[in-house]
Amino acid sequence: MTPQAQDAKHIAAGDLPTANVVLETRGLKKTYGSGEKLLSVLVDANLVLRQGEMVAIVAPSGAGKSTLLHLLAALDTPTSGTVYFATKAIESINERALAEFRNRAVGFLWQRHQLLPDFTATENVAMPLLLRGDDFTSALGMARKWLAEVGLENRVDHRAGELSGGEQQRVAIARALVTGPSVLLADEPTGDLDEQNAWAVFELLERLHRTHKLTSLIATHNLALAARCDRILGLEHGVLRTREATAAASGAPGGEAS
Ligand SMILES: Nc1ncnc2c1ncn2[C@@H]1O[C@H](COP(=O)(O)OP(=O)(O)O)[C@@H](O)[C@H]1O
Ligand SMILES: [Mg+2]
Repeated sequence: MTPQAQDAKHIAAGDLPTANVVLETRGLKKTYGSGEKLLSVLVDANLVLRQGEMVAIVAPSGAGKSTLLHLLAALDTPTSGTVYFATKAIESINERALAEFRNRAVGFLWQRHQLLPDFTATENVAMPLLLRGDDFTSALGMARKWLAEVGLENRVDHRAGELSGGEQQRVAIARALVTGPSVLLADEPTGDLDEQNAWAVFELLERLHRTHKLTSLIATHNLALAARCDRILGLEHGVLRTREATAAASGAPGGEAS
C-alpha cells in the first residue's frame, strides 16, 4: 500500500497495528566512498513506524544504526531510496522546510549527549528554541519546565559540564523534546551509562514516550532494555528485519520490518 493510501485509510489512533504511519523508508540504500573503498552500509532498508510505537534497533557496532537514524532525521541523504515523514517524501521538502522539520518534527538523542559544557542546563535545553527564533524568556521558561519533567529541577543553573553522566543525558532528553517533536530518534542513549543509570534513563524515555504520545525508535546494544519496546528490529547486511517478538508485539511474524 502506498503511504498516501495508508493515510487515506485514516485508521483510529491507538490501534497500533493499523495506526497511522509516521515514518517510513522504502528501499533505503547508503554507500560511503567509491571504487575499491566502496562501503555498502544500508542495502535495502524498509521500515514502517506507526504512531505511538516504541521500537528498538539492536545490531552490532558498525551495522549501520547511526547511518539509518541520521537518514531518518534528514541529517544525511540516502544514496537511493526514500524516507517518508507522515507520508511525505523528505527529499521533496525544500531546504527551509527541512530545517523546520529537523527542529520541530524529530527529536534526536545522541549517545554522547553533545551538550555545551560551559552553558547551564537551562541554556542547553533552550538552544533549539532560540535557534528557531523563540524569544529568550519564553525559551528559558520552557527549558526549565522540561528540566523539571526529567527530574532536574534542582540542576537548572548548573553548568552542563558539572553534571553527572546520567544527569547530562537527562538534559539531552529535555533538549531533544523541548520543541515538541512527534518522533524521538535515540542513538544508543544509554550506551555511555552504568547499568543503574541506563535503566533510569530508559524508564524516563518510556514515561515520556507515553505521556507525550511519541513515536520512538531507539538503537541500543542492551537487549534487556530493547525487550521492553513494542518490537525489536535487527540490521543485518544492510537490511532491517524483525528480530524477535516481544510480549507487547504478541507473536508478530518475522520478515519484513513493518
Ligand atoms: N561518513 C562516513 N564515511 C565513511 N564511512 C562511514 C561514515 N559513517 C559511517 N561509516 C561506516 O559505516 C558503517 C556503519 O556505521 P554506523 O552507521 O555508525 O554503525 P553503527 O551505528 O551501527 O555502529 C561503519 O563501518 C562505519 O565505519
Ligand atoms: Mg552508532
